[in-house]
Amino acid sequence: MDVPAPKMYRLVIILALPLCASCLDNGLMLTPPMGWLAWERFRCDIDCENDPNNCISEKLFMDMADRLSEDGWRDLGYVYVNIDDCWSSKQRDKDGRLQADPKRFPGGIKKLAQYLHERGLKLGIYGDMGTYTCGGYPGSPLDKIELDAQTFADWEVDMFKYDGCYSNATEQEQGYPLMSKALNATGRPIGYSCSWPAYQGGLPPKVNYTQLGEICNLWRNYGDIQDSWSSVWSIVDWFFENQDALIPAAGPGRWNDPDMLIIGDFGLSMEQSRSQMALWAIMAAPLFMSNDLRTLSSGARVILQNKMIISINQDPLGIQGRRILKEKSGIQIFWRPLSKNTSALLFFSHRTDMPYRYKTSLSKLNYTAGSYKVTDVYTYKTLELKDSTEFVVSVNPTGVVMWHISAPAKLNSRLYFRGAQAAASGRDVGNDIPVLL
Ligand code: GLA
Repeated sequence: MDVPAPKMYRLVIILALPLCASCLDNGLMLTPPMGWLAWERFRCDIDCENDPNNCISEKLFMDMADRLSEDGWRDLGYVYVNIDDCWSSKQRDKDGRLQADPKRFPGGIKKLAQYLHERGLKLGIYGDMGTYTCGGYPGSPLDKIELDAQTFADWEVDMFKYDGCYSNATEQEQGYPLMSKALNATGRPIGYSCSWPAYQGGLPPKVNYTQLGEICNLWRNYGDIQDSWSSVWSIVDWFFENQDALIPAAGPGRWNDPDMLIIGDFGLSMEQSRSQMALWAIMAAPLFMSNDLRTLSSGARVILQNKMIISINQDPLGIQGRRILKEKSGIQIFWRPLSKNTSALLFFSHRTDMPYRYKTSLSKLNYTAGSYKVTDVYTYKTLELKDSTEFVVSVNPTGVVMWHISAPAKLNSRLYFRGAQAAASGRDVGNDIPVLL
């Protein structure tokens, strides 16, 4: 059998497959959810008088819905429009129900949900299992769980993020499973995002990922993303340092969530934007953009709408990738097994000097013997590569080269290799190495 997966990881794949037998039984999010989420870019801006375009209001979410449906996002899978903190009134209504701030959401949440549904989109909303949300708005503590779940269902909400500020470990142990049950009991399919692990250090034994997979569709494992490369990298490094604990937790219907995509904001260079997108695809991470889709640069759009990377992210096997090599040179290599005998390979440079020419071969990266079809997901260049053939990739500082690799192809490799060209011209090809980029 010719499997293009590194030998030592085949066992991991086999073990990972049946795990969804224990995933949250709402049939949702069999691939990582995609959409837009307000928090990182728009935070708790409630100053609609002075900042009407950016404040947390129904206008902001309708604007984003218009962009998602008219600018090609929805058709690529970006369907959720998610409200985060600071949407509600500071008081519950006379019946004890949460209510949206009437000044900022004059139409109410249900109307907003319907606006989205008419456009083929879904609405997400935010709550917190403590007495207050992180931003100081009314929480949904234990005694309010059933009422609030029903309120969200009545409003036709499609996803719920349950944060953990102002709650303790004991309350969380009760509250997160209880909310799962309450959402299911409404009969409305509501994707459930749990912040529980992030409040408990993100790692076993304090965090029970088997249980999380049974009650939540996704969960935040770690701290909040901010608009900087150092923030992105600290998250990436934590995820891969702890990959042995995290990878088995992920699968169809149950995802680790390293937080939002900040591509199109202010903190990342183009290289770093490509890196975030590629790394989130390797991690099988939910793809929630937190940016301003009304003013997005075309560069950011091209990265976020890259079909090949999205399809890697959305691979139906749902196996989270891993870091397979950390070189002293600063080059790091990541790998994710994909369906149909394919895989994704990512070369990242942690260097700060200049593009680094990294030399290796697929067999050095544990690929089994054979010849593979390689496609660079950012340039769309393809070539055929034997496992034993040495090649060089040029990786920019804080940038990536990402490949999609499929099983032996019938392509004629000669066209692509300097060595082969030289052979055709009669030169000695002894140690010639194909240069890919
Ligand atoms: C926490 C969460 C963030 C965001 C804020 C809102 O910090 O981790 O994602 O929801 O609360 O206040």
